[in-house]
Amino acid sequence: MYSEKVMEHFRNPQNVGEIENPDGIGEVGNPVCGDMMTFHVKVEDNILTDVKFKTFGCGAAIAVSSMVSEMAKGKTIEQALKITNADVAKELGGLPPQKLHCSNLGADALHAAIRNYLEKQKGAK
Ligand code: FES
Repeated sequence: MYSEKVMEHFRNPQNVGEIENPDGIGEVGNPVCGDMMTFHVKVEDNILTDVKFKTFGCGAAIAVSSMVSEMAKGKTIEQALKITNADVAKELGGLPPQKLHCSNLGADALHAAIRNYLEKQKGAK
């Protein structure tokens, strides 16, 4: 019932962990199941040079986090903010309907980390 892409990211998730001194941190919880996802981002010259995540959640949520981190790495802030949860599910070759809520965390957590970075920038000026 899962696409090959989902299984690949679930079995071998990319960018798991934390960044030392991250420029932004975003944490979201899934109201449906209570799972949590945290994203760390490193930003240089408006580019996401590193993205790492920690997900306490189901397999689909782990695959989603891994895919989001891959999609966001190397992108500009503006490009990364345009990544939607639907884009992530599409990149993964779709998710079973009852697992679509799991993909709702991914882009949200990434965007929260970027917003955290942008807020810090504002504060620094
Ligand atoms: Fe919780 Fe999938 S069941 S994120």
